[in-house]
Amino acid sequence: MTNENWQGINIKDANNVIKDNIFNSYPPEKPATAVNYIPYTGVSHFVGRSEELELIHEKLHQENNTVAISAVSGMGGIGKTELAVKYAREHINDYPGGVCWLNARDRNLAAVIIQFVQLQMGLEVPQQDFQGNALTLIQQVAWCWQNWQPPEGLVLVVLDDVTNLEGFDELIPSNHRFRFLLTTRLRDIDANIDGIPLGVLSQKEGLQLLINIIGETKVNKELATAEELCKWLGYLPLGIELVGRYIKKKPPHFTLGKMLELLQQQRLNQEAINSQQKGLSTPCCNQFEQFSWTLLLPGKVRSSRTTLHPSFGVI
Ligand SMILES: Nc1ncnc2c1ncn2[C@@H]1O[C@H](COP(=O)(O)OP(=O)(O)OP(=O)(O)O)[C@@H](O)[C@H]1O
Ligand SMILES: [Mg+2]
Repeated sequence: MTNENWQGINIKDANNVIKDNIFNSYPPEKPATAVNYIPYTGVSHFVGRSEELELIHEKLHQENNTVAISAVSGMGGIGKTELAVKYAREHINDYPGGVCWLNARDRNLAAVIIQFVQLQMGLEVPQQDFQGNALTLIQQVAWCWQNWQPPEGLVLVVLDDVTNLEGFDELIPSNHRFRFLLTTRLRDIDANIDGIPLGVLSQKEGLQLLINIIGETKVNKELATAEELCKWLGYLPLGIELVGRYIKKKPPHFTLGKMLELLQQQRLNQEAINSQQKGLSTPCCNQFEQFSWTLLLPGKVRSSRTTLHPSFGVI
């Protein structure tokens, strides 16, 4: 360490503080503006979920500082991430300390938090204390909370698609300015975390989503079939979205009836494959769960969506 540098941080003109045996240095040239990092998901017409949105806000501000959106059935594509995005966007002004969005899928939560602070906030997280002892990841995360920029104001931390909550308690700061919103497919969530179980869309919302994608005129032409299609898709937002996009790409004479027929045929093929492979057909909660993505998704997208449901087969 030189007089002007410590772990790559210019400390000469900085505001230097030693706290808990950890050297903290705030670069003076860095304006403490909040980092707002919310992914763009491309959904132009969000439908429903008004009760859940209110509930998230209420829970994050009353009883608890950690809320988890989970799926009633543990199924993917139900809209957990979309709901978290909607909440973060709508309430960005309620979190003057910033919105920190972290992709937690199959990742070490501590490492993800440290990386965000380094990359998005431009702070160098110390790996040693002032006496040269290595800091654990948990201590480094604690440093991140203590040195969060700006230093005041509520912060929303979204951990999207948490697949492992082991050690999560140790990462949560005692400082109440940080509010955590998790999305997860996990069924057994820690008792300290307030859960918001998310179900599929209502019949009306499902139809509205289809209308948003393919247009009212097309839906009204075959209203009963449109309703049947949404029902067939189990009112799963992802299913309706994929089918809607598929229809939209087809020429105008492609009917909703034809779409339903294709899906039913595809499902029959899938069942035949399943029964050949397993010797029996798998019972399912809704038809779409057994459906193969091959019809609707291009290869690349499909591979990122193979985990819709544990019993889901991709061919
Ligand atoms: N409320 C909604 N309004 C409009 N579209 C929605 C809504 N919820 C979800 N969708 C659509 O469904 C798709 C899947 O939703 P999302 O990615 O949020 O599911 P998820 O529950 O997070 O799934 P996974 O468990 O795989 O992460 C989204 O890309 C979006 O297009
Ligand atoms: Mg998700």
